[in-house]
Amino acid sequence: MAEPLLLLDRRAGAGLVAQLVAALRRDILDGRLRAGDPMPSTRGLARELAIARSTVVAAYEQLAGEGYLELRQGAATRVAELEPRTAQAPAAESDASAAPAAASPVARIPLADLSPGVPSTARLDERAWRAAWRAAAAHPPSWSPPPLGVPALRAAIAEHLRSARGVHCSPEDVVVAAGTSEALALVARALVALRGEAVRIGVEDPGYPAGRRALERHGATPVPLPLADGGLELAALERALQRRGRGRLHAVMVTPSHQYPLGGRLPVADRLALLELAAHADAFVVEDDYDSEFRHTGAPLPALASLDGGERVVLVGSFSKVLTPWLRLGYLVLPAHAGLRAAVATARAELDTPVAGPVQLAVADYLDRGALRRHIAATRREYTHRRRLVQDALGDLDPERARLTAIDGGLHAVLELPDRAAERALVARLAEEGVIVAPLAQYAVGGDRGAGPAGVVLGYAGVGDLALAAALERIRAALERGRVSD
Ligand SMILES: Cc1ncc(COP(=O)(O)O)c(C=O)c1O
Repeated sequence: MAEPLLLLDRRAGAGLVAQLVAALRRDILDGRLRAGDPMPSTRGLARELAIARSTVVAAYEQLAGEGYLELRQGAATRVAELEPRTAQAPAAESDASAAPAAASPVARIPLADLSPGVPSTARLDERAWRAAWRAAAAHPPSWSPPPLGVPALRAAIAEHLRSARGVHCSPEDVVVAAGTSEALALVARALVALRGEAVRIGVEDPGYPAGRRALERHGATPVPLPLADGGLELAALERALQRRGRGRLHAVMVTPSHQYPLGGRLPVADRLALLELAAHADAFVVEDDYDSEFRHTGAPLPALASLDGGERVVLVGSFSKVLTPWLRLGYLVLPAHAGLRAAVATARAELDTPVAGPVQLAVADYLDRGALRRHIAATRREYTHRRRLVQDALGDLDPERARLTAIDGGLHAVLELPDRAAERALVARLAEEGVIVAPLAQYAVGGDRGAGPAGVVLGYAGVGDLALAAALERIRAALERGRVSD
């Protein structure tokens, strides 16, 4: 997936000059702009990006000072010859070296990266954030962090879950991990140790590819389960859980509050039914509660972990959506099952402690200050506003061409399309216009020929309003012109 190269966000912490410098510098270092390439005129680029010309001039001057650009009186500014180490183009782009150098660099700078999974950090309470890191730095270094996590963080997470999700657990139930993927690695290893080699875990299809990969890498086999109305189809789950012998499911992994990526949510009755089916089959339930703090319509539903009485649900949580994936921080909340707890502790010891002590202490302090609660409230308002922009722009499309769904919660929406050909065409067309979106095929176990509707996922949380509005205009125009089936 392409990196966000240029998100000129007027409300971001960094100024526009700094943002432009960073985007162009990265383009040069990544080889997208090569030595000798002419840069667009300052006037042209300013017009293209709807910013002041003086901003572009300042950015070019800074890049020239850093040695990335050559400014020449009366001639076009060009990309400078860099040291061999940095000038090397990435191998994957070697074909592009034959392309004419005249292609406009601007065309290659994305206007908006709507890849899902990127939260907004524009409203981060910087004072609390800095204070938390200062507190962590003041803590004397000790031996390595306790394997299951620093007690202050485990306690802060338990308290956060109580107040934000109504999940009552004790700090001892919480195991710190390096994000959801690493938490799932622990689950897979623990189940393999507990149930034998051929552990099979039911997964939603389409579903979270990184989650499937984490399970697979650690010895479990993901078994695709179909969806109905954007959520797990219970009848299919029931059939899968009835299998015995080698076909048996040892666990099922679900996103009940906001199915990823199709956005359905399981009503309470279905949650209870799911728990009953799992109990009957003696299977664990892995609940990926990745973004349930962000509900835009209707009240949040209780987590499976709070309905099951601490029997068989392993709750997996992450700070990637509520705060930032930059932290690589997540956690597990374990049920009372003594065998599973011992197996997770062994897996944790085998994989070593992945989250550094200062990170754990800083986040614990940030939570203790109430800063995360305030941050979630502020970003929820921000996302509600962005969601409205998406709805206003795409909510009334001709349903024959595209249908906006998955918009009731979380940080993304889905635009369902008639077929995979339309999906491929829209992704490619938008990429040409500088708008990055994710094809739904990416989430299906069978890829392009996989289960679920065709369409694209639009992450709307991490882009500024202006870039989002411009991107939505282009999406709408592409659909209205019918160009996606070109
Ligand atoms: C379904 C789902 N679960 C969890 C996560 C968070 O993953 P991590 O904590 O590894 O960043 C994401 C992020 O995109 C997700 O989409």
